[in-house]
Amino acid sequence: MPKRVRTHVNPLSITHEFHFEGFGNDRPIFVDVGAYKGEFTEGLLAQFPDCNFVVFEIRRPIAEKLREKFADHENVVVFHGDAGLNFRNILEPCIAQGAQIKEIFVNFPDPWFKDRHKKRRFITTKFLNSCTDWLPAETEFIFQTDQEFLFNETKEYLAETPYEITEEFSKPPYDQTTDWEDAKVAEGKEIWRMRFKRL
Ligand SMILES: C[S@@+](CC[C@H](N)C(=O)[O-])C[C@H]1O[C@@H](n2cnc3c(N)ncnc32)[C@H](O)[C@@H]1O
Repeated sequence: MPKRVRTHVNPLSITHEFHFEGFGNDRPIFVDVGAYKGEFTEGLLAQFPDCNFVVFEIRRPIAEKLREKFADHENVVVFHGDAGLNFRNILEPCIAQGAQIKEIFVNFPDPWFKDRHKKRRFITTKFLNSCTDWLPAETEFIFQTDQEFLFNETKEYLAETPYEITEEFSKPPYDQTTDWEDAKVAEGKEIWRMRFKRL
């Protein structure tokens, strides 16, 4: 397999905010943060055709491809931009319409290795603590990574929030892998996965 070379987008440099009026119904919602090619959401959509799906992707050309991919599905919306900045803008109106945010998938996020870049990560203590103001406690996050250090540091972030790990697990949720995961497993890498929610 050819080596993957791609540029990470600094989410703190993308300040565009967007808004959403919600799906206009109260069906449960799955969220895919950093969806890339979107095969994870595609797989869940096949299994849960009556649910709604919110997809975030920071890279514009990729977000445009995702929009094309899901163009025939009114129950899938794709947002281009920083998921962190727009998380509440997008999801709170859905909650106001009675929808349950069922699960939020953070699948193989950019790790931002250097200390000075760690505030660019999607899951941080600050982000999770800000969710406690509005995101219902029942909503579960699913975090998957091939980076053990990121998995452990994310646990440290969680320890400074009201969120607690409910499960560490080994198999892909809903038996649905992602593009990144398939590539890493083919390289022989181990995958680290956890669920967490506010208890
Ligand atoms: C390592 S890739 C993983 C992609 C996919 N989840 C998978 O598992 O195949 C990370 C993806 O998240 C996107 N991304 C990174 N930071 C983001 C942010 N703050 N908001 C939305 N998308 C982001 C990247 O552009 C990239 O497509």
